[in-house]
Amino acid sequence: MAVVISSNGNSKAFDAKMTVYVFICVIIAAVGGLIFGYDIGISGGVTAMDDFLKEFFPSVYERKKHAHENNYCKYDNQFLQLFTSSLYLAALVASFFASATCSKLGRRPTMQLASIFFLIGVGLAAGAVNIYMLIFGRILLGFGVGFGNQAVPLFLSEIAPARLRGGLNIVFQLMVTIGILIANIVNYFTSSIHPYGWRLALGGAGIPALILLFGSLLICETPTSLIERNKTKEGKETLKKIRGVEDVDEEYESIVHACDFARQVKDPYTKLMKPASRPPFVIGMLLQFFQQLTGINAIMFYAPVLFQTVGFGNDAALLSAVITGTINVLSTFVGIFLVDKTGRRFLLLQSSVHMLVCQLVIGIILAKDLDVTGTLGRPQALVVVIFVCVYVMGFAWSWGPLGWLIPSETFPVETRTEGFALAVSCNMFFTFVIAQAFLSMLCGMKSGIFFFFSGWIVVMGLFALFFVPETKGVAIDDMRDSVWKLHWYWKRFMLEEDEHDVEKRTD
Ligand code: BGC
Repeated sequence: MAVVISSNGNSKAFDAKMTVYVFICVIIAAVGGLIFGYDIGISGGVTAMDDFLKEFFPSVYERKKHAHENNYCKYDNQFLQLFTSSLYLAALVASFFASATCSKLGRRPTMQLASIFFLIGVGLAAGAVNIYMLIFGRILLGFGVGFGNQAVPLFLSEIAPARLRGGLNIVFQLMVTIGILIANIVNYFTSSIHPYGWRLALGGAGIPALILLFGSLLICETPTSLIERNKTKEGKETLKKIRGVEDVDEEYESIVHACDFARQVKDPYTKLMKPASRPPFVIGMLLQFFQQLTGINAIMFYAPVLFQTVGFGNDAALLSAVITGTINVLSTFVGIFLVDKTGRRFLLLQSSVHMLVCQLVIGIILAKDLDVTGTLGRPQALVVVIFVCVYVMGFAWSWGPLGWLIPSETFPVETRTEGFALAVSCNMFFTFVIAQAFLSMLCGMKSGIFFFFSGWIVVMGLFALFFVPETKGVAIDDMRDSVWKLHWYWKRFMLEEDEHDVEKRTD
């Protein structure tokens, strides 16, 4: 029997085994993360390929050939950045549609829709003969990301037994990191295949999209989604199947209770604006915002230039991608292992200090030793590279996965898909902003950019310290009683709601 200890020390006992079936479901669903990671990783490489630039951005290609060498500004080009970041804008819009399909049709069909968007998007982008096909393909890929990133983390949090929820949910982030690593390796090899290497690179995403499409036929719908849509019998059967035990009555009742309550809520978005929704809403949005303000995507982008400086020569791009990418993948396992043991808060706090030190060291060395057109001395560059790797480690076991996990496990059923959609779109918006602005910021702020991110890391660390409660081991539909009502700050919003309910009943 799995005993779930909630943060107030109350215990809720739901019988649950870790079944092979749940394991298969987790792996298949998390392939959605693989496609997301592949898309993150592939665009930088493709937009650096001359064949690609000649075909779609000839003026950028000409400019690139005559680019004035400047350490901080050589890659600055708004048009190219827009090509990369347009995917995130499409994903942002799509996550609201995905929230509706998640509620009305279920998590599984939403994943299937994601794989269809991915497949058509990949076909159009890889087969593009003009810029319109390319951009349209990219928008459809963005739709795939929006649908996948909405459905997969929710699916994982809902099918996992509470005591393993953190680790199983982080399989999504693990797949994201594997996707980034594969994309970087693919970029390297396809860049020397002329003139169609970029088509192969973009087309590669078709493989995981097919796996997701066919794999999703094997997985189940989540019990919560079934019960929410009045398929109670099927919901109970599914619960038995995924928990691997016959007696699931207690957990079933708790889901039914949560869904009954959810049905009374007519407009989830209005409900999200109410005080009682404030804790998951504020935490979900801010964790995603902070995740991007750690500067992870900026660091990942800057790594090849640094590795080159250290003297890896022409292979710098591949090596930096393989080294930082492998560290990213391996460190995510640390997160999977620790998240349900040490808890979420420990990882967030530890890594805030850890990432802050790394960003400061990198910033100080660059400020002192790298002038605008000169190069960094090798010893300093080596130190920078080491700190980049250590930084990636810290992100990979904390703000990376927890930015997805915590918002997917803290909203109650009545606002879960809508609240999570807002969190996903917040992530997409700030990924877009960073992708769009980073190169110009680097050009304008120079090494100051690392101090900029350091400042944000201090803010997010303090936020985690005071406002993010521990959710380890708490049943997903029990957050209100076991977490928010006991938190020094958030409990005031719960009390307000209780008073309001009492007033309504006495009226
Ligand atoms: C973030 C991405 C980031 C990736 C790095 C994800 O959780 O959302 O923006 O590139 O982690 O591993």
